[in-house]
Amino acid sequence: KDTIKVGLLGLGTVGTGVIEILHTNKESIKHKTGCEVKVTRALVHDIHKTRDLPGEAVQLTTDYEDITKDPEIDVIVEVMGGVEHTLNVLLEAIENKKHIVSANKDLVAEHGEILFDAAVRNGTDLYYEASVAGGIPIIRSIVDGLSSDNIRKMMGIVNGTTNYILTKMSQDGSDFDDVLKEAQELGFAEADPTADVDGLDAARKMTILSILGFSMPTRLSDVKLKGIRGMSTSDITYADKLGYTIKLIGIAEHDEKGITLSVEPSLLPKVHPLSSVNDEYNAVYVYGDAVGETMFYGPGAGKGPTATAIVSDLIAVVKNIRLGTNGNNYVHPQHDRLLKPKAK
Ligand code: NDP
Ligand code: HSE
Repeated sequence: KDTIKVGLLGLGTVGTGVIEILHTNKESIKHKTGCEVKVTRALVHDIHKTRDLPGEAVQLTTDYEDITKDPEIDVIVEVMGGVEHTLNVLLEAIENKKHIVSANKDLVAEHGEILFDAAVRNGTDLYYEASVAGGIPIIRSIVDGLSSDNIRKMMGIVNGTTNYILTKMSQDGSDFDDVLKEAQELGFAEADPTADVDGLDAARKMTILSILGFSMPTRLSDVKLKGIRGMSTSDITYADKLGYTIKLIGIAEHDEKGITLSVEPSLLPKVHPLSSVNDEYNAVYVYGDAVGETMFYGPGAGKGPTATAIVSDLIAVVKNIRLGTNGNNYVHPQHDRLLKPKAK
């Protein structure tokens, strides 16, 4: 194939970023994959909304089956969010042999296993680098880069919105509600920002990291959870006077007793490197027996960083299509046991 056609489910902040990167980097992507990668259709809620998109026209639809059943579309990029309905849409797409790239941590944390079973059965790809820590390639690093080691602990800031809020409250004395509004306008927050504020988004990300890093089944309900709701500017300035910064910290630990997971606001001494992770930036420490301590840092939310992760996943899928190697690269250790040679 000279052209790989892509269907987008969702054309909001992240979906628009995907189209922009595919347009801007068209030639280099062609060089890397050996073919043109083109978004032909996109699912939206409101077909009449004004959208400023570069490049060739994309056909908009409000019927997801126009995408999941389009025989010309090879890959579906899911950037619409949602859990139960989106799960059914993606399962239908996988049964139709579509490869999936998703940014949906809610879905992967809650139903990752169902999706992977479907992908394994159908020999399709399922990538979700954008679901944790935006532009930081943390999933690949854990699953591939550190696969030889025993990961014992992962700790860090994995929600951009709350980090943005805490940073602005601390640096400018801004009011919680005003900064949350700003984070929404900047495209960092979830459709329902209570998921950010109450720590659920970070808990979903820590669940995914735990499944991948420890190769152990982990449930969202295993996470001990407290968000930043009710945090006042005076809490933050008081901590500051005592030499501390308040950050929403996720911790996943694996020892002989099992797995411990938590997300909660924590006081960090100002000299701690996580204290200087500001705005929408994320940072994750990963500790392994052999490697020791590693730290991953970068923008954790927003259009450009998130779309970068998505398009990199897309490039991986397209390379697999070109090489005929789809379905052999499950980024999910729990499914290693399901890997078997393809039938001749
Ligand atoms: P937006 O709200 O900006 O965009 C959502 C898009 O999906 C819109 O185009 C909307 O249509 C469409 N949509 C949503 N539900 C439906 C539906 N049921 N039927 C048809 N169309 C629908 O969200 P984001 O782009 O910010 O986020 C998308 C996904 O990426 C979410 O899963 C989010 O958690 C994840 N993500 C977001 C990050 C970020 O920084 N924003 C970072 C990492 C992951 P319409 O345009 O008509 O309203
Ligand atoms: N709402 C999320 C955040 C988007 O602020 O981190 C990135 O996953």
